[in-house]
Amino acid sequence: MKSYEHEINRRRTFAIISHPDAGKTTLTEKFLLYGGAINLAGSVKGKATARHAVSDWMEIEKERGISVTSSVLQFEYDNFCINILDTPGHQDFSEDTYRTLMAADSAVMVIDASKGVEAQTRKLFKVCVMRKIPIFTFINKMDRDANDTFELLDEIEKELGIATCPVNWPIGSGKRFKGVYDRERKCVITYSDTEKGTKEGESVEIPVSDEEKLLSVIGEEAADTLKDEIELLDGASAEFDLELVRAGDLTPVFFGSALTNFGVEFFLQHFLKMTTTPLPRKADIGVIPPAEHDFSAFVFKIQANMNKAHRDRIAFMRICSGKYEASMEVRHVQGGKVMRLSQPQQIMASERKVLEEAYAGDIIGVFDPGQFSIGDTLCMPKEQFCYEGIPTFAPEHFARVRQMDTMKRKQFVKGITQIAQEGAIQIFQEFNTGMEEIIVGVVGVLQFDVLKYRLENEYNVEIKLENLPYEHIRWIENKDIDLDKLTGTSDMKKIKDLKGNPLLLFINAWSVGMTLDRNKGLELSEFGRN
Ligand code: G4P
Repeated sequence: MKSYEHEINRRRTFAIISHPDAGKTTLTEKFLLYGGAINLAGSVKGKATARHAVSDWMEIEKERGISVTSSVLQFEYDNFCINILDTPGHQDFSEDTYRTLMAADSAVMVIDASKGVEAQTRKLFKVCVMRKIPIFTFINKMDRDANDTFELLDEIEKELGIATCPVNWPIGSGKRFKGVYDRERKCVITYSDTEKGTKEGESVEIPVSDEEKLLSVIGEEAADTLKDEIELLDGASAEFDLELVRAGDLTPVFFGSALTNFGVEFFLQHFLKMTTTPLPRKADIGVIPPAEHDFSAFVFKIQANMNKAHRDRIAFMRICSGKYEASMEVRHVQGGKVMRLSQPQQIMASERKVLEEAYAGDIIGVFDPGQFSIGDTLCMPKEQFCYEGIPTFAPEHFARVRQMDTMKRKQFVKGITQIAQEGAIQIFQEFNTGMEEIIVGVVGVLQFDVLKYRLENEYNVEIKLENLPYEHIRWIENKDIDLDKLTGTSDMKKIKDLKGNPLLLFINAWSVGMTLDRNKGLELSEFGRN
């Protein structure tokens, strides 16, 4: 047994996914509060302050008042060392949001009880399903009028295609919210507004068998409804099965109110029991067990120019096995070099802490003078293996890029290629031409502004973007396809990526199916391979 096995086994690394405004930030703050990382919820990631603290690095973010990057938070709770990967909540999220999910071992899905499943949750959920990581659902804002509980669960099952298993059950909502019923312990935990941020609540626990007390506290009507609902629930819902949860086939569901701090600690405690220790990851030499293998990591995100004064680039990596110690030598496999990582950091809001050590499950940020690419592997100097690459996620917005000053061709190509390498945008070419016609694809439209801004500010190149109507992109999986012979729909456009891989663009989702019908044996994918 390795000496650091204990450290690895107490790590839990998860991402929070939700549609904007469902309460992801508020829930994260409350987690930190329980972890003792902050005294009063809000002081680390309170909207007004944190948005600036995290995102000061780019003017564009300040102008828009939103955060373009996703951050990592680490805190301790009950002997667990928890890493939360935040996914940008704004609708203009980027491919980084998807990549962040590649670094997590599980996901917490926050749903607004009055809204149900929303667009962004749906998109992020798809990536979780692709990776088959466990998903935990927190249905938030029960202190507001909520949709019918059974309907909410039904919606999750139908829309997302995952079975649900409520761990607790709400008693009313909004002004009539009385608390939750803990299905395992068969007791009611009464609702109390715990003063929006302090940890001490005044919830009482009442076993359902104590009918008299239950009636006096929640009233006859609520008690009757609860009884009926428990009966229905016990008969109809999926049974809790940890294996199914771990396989990503069943989501445990919790109800609460992050703002009033109700149900948050209950969630945290159960979640920590159910979620996994750092998961083994696939590499070309087989699966690497986190606690039995020396240091290894992969780069899942590269962030440029976090600090304008330093023009630094930071590569975020997820440690997959073993222990990292300051100044140790590692091999950058794709670069073919043995090196020391310069000043690995843990990035928490605006604060950067230089790390002395880190373990499998942790995320570290490393200064990068431009040597890393997304998906790169780092391991011990004597080893040589590669982790499975990070897929390229389908952009949903496309534009043709035109450069204003044709004399600056070189800077333009250099700039746009570098920005694409960092993974902020994807660039494509017309199928039959060279670099003269460049099409840019992005996951969130804000990335167009980022591209324009960066080309102007860092490469001194002005560009014009001409929006294209395509919304669907598909990678062609067949190795030896003759693109000239492919017969598609009239809205289809043939393009290629930088490596020459053929792709198809469509305006309508319907055309994708039509093209598949017309070309027997054609295999299309929504995810590209790096
Ligand atoms: P996000 O990160 O998912 O985008 O959501 P965030 O936590 O910022 O919450 C969005 C809004 O919803 C905030 O209100 C927040 O206070 C509120 N909220 C979060 N959880 C709950 C809850 O359990 N109950 C109720 N009633 N509200 C909740 P805001 O007015 O937009 O912002 P703020 O001025 O309060 O910061």
